[in-house]
Amino acid sequence: MDKVVIFDTTLRDGEQAAGASLNINEKLEIARQLERLGVDVIEAGFPASSPGDFEAVELVSREIRNPIICGLSRAIAGDIDKAAEALKSAKHPRIHVFVSSSDIHIMHQLKKSKEEVLEMAQNMVKRARGYVEDVEFSPMDASRSNPDYIYQMLEAVIDAGATTLNIPDTVGYSIPEEFGQLIAGIFKNVPNINKAKISVHCHNDLGLAVANSLSAVKNGARQIECTVNGIGERAGNAALEEIVMILKTRSDLFDVTTGINTEQIYKTSRLVSELTGFPVQPNKAVIGGNAFRHQSGIHQDGVMKMSRTYEIMDPKTIGLPGSSLVMGKSSGRHAFKERLSELGYNPADADIDRLFIAFKELADKKKEVTDRDIESLVAQEKREGIIAESYKLDRLQVTCGDKGVPTAAVRLICSDGSIIADAALGTGPVDAVYEAINRLVKVPNKLTEFTVKSITEGIDAIGEVLIRIESDGITYTGRGADTDIIVACAKAYLNALNKLLSA
Ligand code: KIV
Ligand code: ZN
Repeated sequence: MDKVVIFDTTLRDGEQAAGASLNINEKLEIARQLERLGVDVIEAGFPASSPGDFEAVELVSREIRNPIICGLSRAIAGDIDKAAEALKSAKHPRIHVFVSSSDIHIMHQLKKSKEEVLEMAQNMVKRARGYVEDVEFSPMDASRSNPDYIYQMLEAVIDAGATTLNIPDTVGYSIPEEFGQLIAGIFKNVPNINKAKISVHCHNDLGLAVANSLSAVKNGARQIECTVNGIGERAGNAALEEIVMILKTRSDLFDVTTGINTEQIYKTSRLVSELTGFPVQPNKAVIGGNAFRHQSGIHQDGVMKMSRTYEIMDPKTIGLPGSSLVMGKSSGRHAFKERLSELGYNPADADIDRLFIAFKELADKKKEVTDRDIESLVAQEKREGIIAESYKLDRLQVTCGDKGVPTAAVRLICSDGSIIADAALGTGPVDAVYEAINRLVKVPNKLTEFTVKSITEGIDAIGEVLIRIESDGITYTGRGADTDIIVACAKAYLNALNKLLSA
């Protein structure tokens, strides 16, 4: 069977999603998980776009050895030089050069002639080949371009040394049959096409990104660009987990395989959701909370008799923790460690000690500690370890009600060990807490999003708060979880402020 190369662009196109902002440590953590997932290519960023992207590509290039590490670049000399520099220590570096090919982009955005654009594409691919052997080229907005112009451009860049030709449906406009025909047309009309691999990059504006990508595979494409949970610019990109599980589940229709270790899918999805602050909708294919839950009596009856009656995939294949073993107050360290490892976490002993203390505290408040609760504890622990914490919540006391004025008293531990405290009034308890923290931390910012949700069912559930704050035009995401929702709010705010301060 042919292999389809899985090109993950979560750290580049995924991070372009409005509101997603990952710091460098978070990017590295995602890259490490993508390596465990077995992706073939990681597009780690767009080095010329910002110093942060440059640093991220440099760090991922240094640390991640198995997949190809790719840096995006416009067809501009300076961009290519920057990408090459950022990729210097990569074991398998790739430069991805793009330029628009549609009339609408060329006339209104680039304001150049088609001949000039063709020349730029060819010259810049040559320049990239001067740095690395592996060069990808994308004619942006290909699906709205004149196919003859695309053929001409692809032939020219193959001659200049491009090894992968990526065909983007940049604005998610195409439909599967049409997109498949575009790919078939390229195979038929580009004379030197056998020297390169065809890739596709589909956006989800009309909900067709996955379908279009698969139609391209049917027509000979052998690389798919996608993102975890389908995040990305506007409505996002083709979802990696859907692509991979369709190719696996319907291998009777697609004679191809991928190198993905599907048992890492669930964990990767949770990590990306956690770090970007984008929750996964319950009915999301493959990894949504309801994807393997059966509600109707007839379905439950069928699944109990034989799972395949209503389940086309085994939840274990995507690494979904299957056990319903309940942990509680009397569970010991050994059982807790076992459960962590069944959930796919293998922390160092010192981290287990801290996690176990947090688990015991939770078990005191909550009768049953579920897998989701444990995942939330690990996430909270990670949040604290992943960024340099300038401030940590020490104590919090709030008074509120329908008569009195909401008041919060907050005590924080600073990174040098000193303790600071203050109190404030607010329009409600959360506002009072944020006011008190603002008086202590003194960093101007604007709260742009605030969401509260419960992680598990029941009145004693852990509540999780997600917030986004903006400072100097940059968005920082913060998360906090606790059985006390006001404490979770304070933790989330401090998490975002610590990210802002460490940036
Ligand atoms: O959507 C797009 O066209 C892109 C290119 C840079 C490949 O992201
Ligand atoms: Zn894109």
